Amino acid sequence: ALVSSTQMLRTAREQGYCVGAFNVHTMEMLQAVVEAACEANAPLILQTTVGTVRHLGPEYVAAIARVASEEAPVPIALHLDHCHEEELIMRCIEAGYTSVMIDASMHPFAENAEMTRRVVELARERGVNVEAELGKVGGVEDDLVVDDADAALADPIECERFIELTGVDTLAPAIGTAHGIYKGEPRIDFARIEEIARRVSVPLVLHGGSGIPEEQVKRAVQLGMAKMNVATELRIAFSQAIKGVFDNNPQENDPRTYMKQAKQAVKEVALAKMEMCGCVGKA
Ligand code: 13P
Ligand code: ZN
Ligand code: NA
Repeated sequence: ALVSSTQMLRTAREQGYCVGAFNVHTMEMLQAVVEAACEANAPLILQTTVGTVRHLGPEYVAAIARVASEEAPVPIALHLDHCHEEELIMRCIEAGYTSVMIDASMHPFAENAEMTRRVVELARERGVNVEAELGKVGGVEDDLVVDDADAALADPIECERFIELTGVDTLAPAIGTAHGIYKGEPRIDFARIEEIARRVSVPLVLHGGSGIPEEQVKRAVQLGMAKMNVATELRIAFSQAIKGVFDNNPQENDPRTYMKQAKQAVKEVALAKMEMCGCVGKA
């Protein structure tokens, strides 16, 4: 069965490693990431954005993830990424998601805290993990577009206050990473991660995992980041592999042929990220 990510992430934070959380958009992407986790003997968080939930339907996603969790020897959680609608959150929970993100970071602090508190109340009685965001992560993730000018780092004192007000299980503080591939290197505020981690004991979530150099990931994990989200690099690997097949053979018309290549490419990226996160062998 799918497990809640709460205990998985608490253990990761306590033991100083990070669980990879991978955004998937097709059954093959999901299978590729699961294969990577099995090979690495790593705990796994599968996640889908709101756009993917609308594309596939939460029931389909949950059904596939449930089958994976029954066959895989590693713990697997299914998470809804960056959702602003309580109704869709509830629908995903009903469908079998074991973790949800209420992203109300576009609202002022009090409103964000109030929305988060409500979702925590709904999710808790169902044993579902809740993640929230403070500050604003820049870049593009599906329909979520945050200009550099609007991106804002999380205030450590507000983080502490937010946890007291909401009781949220996991917190994604904006600390300088962004969704998508970076122009150059990310400018991560490590001192800020350290200060936030000193003030709050919940597992912290690192968004924008694509494109962060290995050394920076490791440093962020050491400081308290217990979940790292990876989306863009998986999409690129998947799409490039398919393009490669068609470049070599424009007549190719068997999805099993090009999906096989795509799966392999996604699996390799996922394995490399798990290695960076330090979750290999932690299942
Ligand atoms: P990347 O697309 O940069 O990997 O970010 C993923 C993410 O934060 C999903 O919530
Ligand atoms: Zn994100
Ligand atoms: Na990124």
